[in-house]
Amino acid sequence: MPIYHKLGKIPQKRHTQFEKPDGGLYYEQLFGTIGFDGMSSLSYHVHRPTQVKEIGEALDVSPKIAVEKNIASRKFIGFDVAPKDDFLESREPLLVNNDVHVGLAAPRKSVTEYFYKNADADEMLFIHKGSGTLKTFLGNIPFEYGDYLIIPRGMIYQIEFDTEDNRILYAESFHPIYTPKRYRNWFGQLLEHSPFCERDYKLPQDLQTFDEKGEFLMKIKKQGMLHQLVYATHPFDVVGWDGYNYPYGFSIHNFEPITGRVHQPPPVHQTFETGAFVVCSFCPRLYDYHPKAIPAPYNHSNIDSDEVLYYVDGDFMSRTGIGPGYISLHPAGIPHGPHPGTYKASIGKKGTEELAVMIDTFKPLQVTENALKIDDGKYYKSWLE
Ligand SMILES: [Fe+2]
Repeated sequence: MPIYHKLGKIPQKRHTQFEKPDGGLYYEQLFGTIGFDGMSSLSYHVHRPTQVKEIGEALDVSPKIAVEKNIASRKFIGFDVAPKDDFLESREPLLVNNDVHVGLAAPRKSVTEYFYKNADADEMLFIHKGSGTLKTFLGNIPFEYGDYLIIPRGMIYQIEFDTEDNRILYAESFHPIYTPKRYRNWFGQLLEHSPFCERDYKLPQDLQTFDEKGEFLMKIKKQGMLHQLVYATHPFDVVGWDGYNYPYGFSIHNFEPITGRVHQPPPVHQTFETGAFVVCSFCPRLYDYHPKAIPAPYNHSNIDSDEVLYYVDGDFMSRTGIGPGYISLHPAGIPHGPHPGTYKASIGKKGTEELAVMIDTFKPLQVTENALKIDDGKYYKSWLE
């Protein structure tokens, strides 16, 4: 996140003595990415952040692949993913490759008994249903329906839900998740033509410091395994921090759509970028206003990217038989386009209330066993007349 942010108390000069009120020194930690070249934050801890007491058993949570090489367009009924109490157990990876794992989760309970970090991947959680607070060692972020939460790799967090009715689309990205470069100037500031700006971000707030010793269970996802470590001090023991590497939120409802006289291509909806996929937000907007405009998209061949669309709310103009929580997969190699009837039906319409999240990957996605369980199995024939 290219905005400088700080919370709590920090010493005037980095890497210098920072004394506790009752004697002793705080422990400084650099939390950085891409070696020492990416964004980083400096945090100050009550205790040494390195005190591991025990290493327990590791659990294999790697996705189970059902279709390694896929050519079929598919439709998944996302709300058929069964709710589970535990946040991590509720996650079901559906479409995966070496760059990203896309999945759904319907967790019922807050994470209170352990702490979690993903050591390999930045996580994007899109909140379709539910509200609560993301709690991290760099501060808390309240979230609600429509929020993207971007959690950089290595960030220790817990998640607190207000109710048991929660639905989340998630992406674990093995490449850093950034805002699109073309919307930022040389200094990282978002430019005037960007569909969002710095004011739209939910930055961490309400830094809480826990000065506690004991046994603190940390679940660390790394290389397809969920490792379980016991730390000797509370992981949220930061008294202050500053820098650029921290979690943040962004509401899809704050995305300002870019429209035109004729149909605008999907990149105008882009919200995030990585080295291996993009994330786009399709939001309520006015349709194209050329007198002969066709608001529905043209057929297109995404020859070198797989397209995943997650339908959130409203009517999706170019699709039939689609409801909230559905996912469509249009794989590379074959064209796709509006369903029969929707192309002509879109002519003359003034606007749309559709709300959807799109994830386009540059490498093909594999279909997991979890995904096949909620696959309608006949979507690829849905364009037949
Ligand atoms: Fe498409």
